[in-house]
Amino acid sequence: MAFLSDTLARVKPSPTIAVTTKAQILKAEGRDVIGLGAGEPDFDTPQNIKDAAKRAIDGGKTKYTAVDGIPELKAAICAKFKAENNLTYTPAQVTVGTGGKQTLYNALMATCNPGDEVIIPAPYWVSYPDMVLLAGGVPVPVVCGIEASFKLTPAQLEAAITPKTKWFIFNSPSNPTGAGYTRAELRALCDVLLRHPHVWIMSDDMYEHLVFDDFVFTSPAEVEPALYDRTLTCNGVSKSYAMTGWRIGYAAGPAHLIKAMGTIQSQSTSNPCSIAQYAALEALTGPQDFLAPNRALFQGRRDLVVGMLNQAKGVTCPKPEGAFYVYPDISGCIGKVTPKGITITNDEVFATALLEDTGVAVVFGAAFGVSPNFRVSYATSNAALTEACSRIIGFCASLQ
Ligand SMILES: Cc1ncc(COP(=O)(O)O)c(C=O)c1O
Repeated sequence: MAFLSDTLARVKPSPTIAVTTKAQILKAEGRDVIGLGAGEPDFDTPQNIKDAAKRAIDGGKTKYTAVDGIPELKAAICAKFKAENNLTYTPAQVTVGTGGKQTLYNALMATCNPGDEVIIPAPYWVSYPDMVLLAGGVPVPVVCGIEASFKLTPAQLEAAITPKTKWFIFNSPSNPTGAGYTRAELRALCDVLLRHPHVWIMSDDMYEHLVFDDFVFTSPAEVEPALYDRTLTCNGVSKSYAMTGWRIGYAAGPAHLIKAMGTIQSQSTSNPCSIAQYAALEALTGPQDFLAPNRALFQGRRDLVVGMLNQAKGVTCPKPEGAFYVYPDISGCIGKVTPKGITITNDEVFATALLEDTGVAVVFGAAFGVSPNFRVSYATSNAALTEACSRIIGFCASLQ
C-alpha cells in the first residue's frame, strides 16, 4: 500500500514559495541577493492594526471563535462590500478564513466533484490549478497572451465553457500580470456568463485597492447583479493592509455555499486566529488614510520597473493597471547563450541563470501558465528595484 496519497501526486508545491526560499538560502550563504519573488508588501502592518491585536490579547480574546468569523468582523465585511462595491450581503452570506487562500480552497473543496471543470485564465495565480486538482476538479487554463494585455476575451470564455464547467475564476487586478479589467471588459465577460446559468463565478478581488492612474476597480456581481446568486466575491486584508502574516481572508456569496464552506473549515482548521480577526476588524473599520499613499508608492515603483525593464535587450514589459507585479515577455532572449555557456531554452533556465549570475530572484513564467516570461514583484525599495533592474539589463546584454 502506498504511503502517500494519490491526491498529493496530483499537485506540486508552490513555485513562488520555492523561489523565495532559494533566495533566502543564497542570502544566508552570504550572496548579494535581491529577491523579487515574494508577493507581499515590504512595509509593516499599520500601527493602529497592531494596537488592536495587542488589545485583543490583553482583553482575553484568545479563545475559539465562531468557525467562520466573529460577528463584529462579519458585520464590518458586510459594510465594506456595501460601501466599496455596492454589494449587499448579510452576515450569513459571509465567511472568514485563514487567509484568502483558505476561503478559495474551502469553496473548491465544497463544490468540486470529479470531472467538474474550472476555467482559469492564464497567466494565473499559481495556487488556482493545484487547489482545483486537490478538490478533485479539472483545471481548464485559457491562455491570454501579451497581445491581449493578458486578459481573457469574451470569445475565449465562451469557447472554454462546457456542460461540465462549474466555476470561472476571475482575478482582477491579476497576480502575476497586474492586468485589471475595465468595467466594459468585465461587462462583456458577464454577458457570456449570463448565457450559461450553470457556471459559477469566483471573483478573487485580493488586489482591489492597488490600482493605478485612473483605473476603476469593479467586481462581477456589482457589474451584473443577475450574477449575484452564483458569484463568490473573495477578498482579504493581506495585500491592501500589509497583513500577509496575519492570515485573514474573507468571501461573500449565497448562504448555502457559505454554509458548505464553513463545514469544510470546521473539520479542518476551525476558526481563523482570534487575535488576527480583531486586527482585521480594525483594518476594515479604522482609518484608511494609508491606502492612498501606498497606492502612489506602488505606482511610482511600477513606472520605475516598467521603464527600466523595457531597456533590457530581448525583454518587453507591458504597463499593468494594478497589483504589484509585472510580467515581462522574454521571447528575445530564448535561444541565446549566457557568458557561462548556458543556452536559454526556456524561462525557467533564464530565471535560474539570472539568479546564479546576478543574484536577482524572479519567478519563471511557466509557473503561471504562460511562457516565456518572468514575474517581478516590485514590493521592495526603489533602491533595490533600480539595482535589480540594472542587473537584469546587464544580464540580457551579456547574452549572445
Ligand atoms: C490573487 C491572489 N489571491 C489570493 C491570495 C492569497 O492571499 P492570502 O495571503 O490572504 O492567503 C494571493 C496571495 O498571493 C493572491 O495573489
